[in-house]
Amino acid sequence: MPATILVGAQWGDEGKGRVADWLAAEADVVARYAGGDNAGHTVVVSGQVVKLHLVPSGILHEHVVCVLGNGMVVNPVNLLKEIDGLKAIGVEISPERLMISSRAHLITPAHIALDSASEQARGSQAIGTTLRGIGPAYLDKTGRQGIRAGEMRDPEGFADSIERMMERANAALVRDGHAPLDAKSAAVQYLDAAALLQPYVRDSAQYLNERLRDGARVLCEGAQGTLLDVDHGDYPFVTSSSPTAGGALTGLGIGPGAVDRVVGVAKAFSTRVGSGPMPTELEGELASRLRGTGENFWDEFGTTTGRPRRCGWLDAVVLRYAAQINGFTELFLTKLDVLSGLPELKIAVAYRIDGREVDYPPSTMAELARAEAVYESVTGWVQDVTGARHLADLPNNAIAYIQRISELVGVRIRTVSVGPERGQLVFV
Ligand code: GDP
Ligand code: IMO
Ligand code: MG
Repeated sequence: MPATILVGAQWGDEGKGRVADWLAAEADVVARYAGGDNAGHTVVVSGQVVKLHLVPSGILHEHVVCVLGNGMVVNPVNLLKEIDGLKAIGVEISPERLMISSRAHLITPAHIALDSASEQARGSQAIGTTLRGIGPAYLDKTGRQGIRAGEMRDPEGFADSIERMMERANAALVRDGHAPLDAKSAAVQYLDAAALLQPYVRDSAQYLNERLRDGARVLCEGAQGTLLDVDHGDYPFVTSSSPTAGGALTGLGIGPGAVDRVVGVAKAFSTRVGSGPMPTELEGELASRLRGTGENFWDEFGTTTGRPRRCGWLDAVVLRYAAQINGFTELFLTKLDVLSGLPELKIAVAYRIDGREVDYPPSTMAELARAEAVYESVTGWVQDVTGARHLADLPNNAIAYIQRISELVGVRIRTVSVGPERGQLVFV
């Protein structure tokens, strides 16, 4: 069975981009199934750092065809910028190797303005969104008033749809005391973008199923993470899509029988950007130590927004939950190298809520907000591990850390990364 699903096991930024790039070497097609340019996926090839937001990370392999699936929300103007950026570094982009599902929904300036207005209105309860218009675009999709990529093929109808959407948003913006947007200029800008993107639009579900029937290997690249899933995450501090494995099926239009591998990507510690619960969050010196100063591109500052990420110890409660929701067949552990030099590491093995210990995350925000992590300690290691390529190259305490995580989660860790470069991998 030829499809693999790649899913973030935590709150996003686990290193999915680098894992997708690695798995893409053995794939024919790489397809993003959810989210939009709220994602920021980093791939490093021979020292060159490439940040992708909409285009699947497989694009850096010449043989791979990339798909922006129907489950995505696509900002056409930002997609064109990303395509230009990729072309500028010598990546070949053509309709033969990049396609946009005709069923994917489009993000317009209306969604972006509504995203900020909604965050402002929430005040202290703001979600801390990426302000890319993601929530309002999915709201229009489920409200059955969105604009799909397929509409870009009919310029006249498309311009009308954009203008109507902008006017609808203006009514809401003005009602809430915000300045209205210029509907006409948005329509003109989007019409130009549509003319350039139209050749890339096609029925990608049809394409993917044909390729799967022919035995092609498809990698379904997740964005965001399990705890940001609109159903299974820390609602309401979530994104508006389904980043979990189920989302890959609806987000691409393929059946479950096509999938035989679900790779969960977990960072060796926890990070979160935006608001919401994080029981293992650290403050002070330890948090700064995990975050880094921002001097290295892999330090914990948002790829999309530049915001410092909240940092904390690894949370095995979250990982066990993610393994269950997604049906992970294996785990990929990233950023082990960042832990070198810490004398003691902690892993959350349970939560204490009102004096009770539970080993799964509660489903209500009220309970989750009261959850305190129960820790187990593991001795750290001092050695630099960035040059390790085999398990035997790692210090014993690092091996013990990996093994303990595997045991606690109940899923095999097959691969560990020890640096951001393509080859910095340890096969367990
Ligand atoms: P994604 O959103 O899940 O693709 O992750 P991001 O790209 O937003 O953030 C992960 C960051 O960690 C990027 O800067 C990667 O280059 C970097 N990274 C990935 N794996 C490793 C690793 O094993 N070690 C180090 N030091 N950095 C890594
Ligand atoms: P990648 O794919 C980390 C977070 C935002 C906010 C919440 C809702 O790089 O892992 P949204 O703009 O989606 O409405 O914001 O979700 N968020 C992410 N955090 N990595 C991401 O993507 C994220 N995409 C959204 O910070 O808390
Ligand atoms: Mg990211």
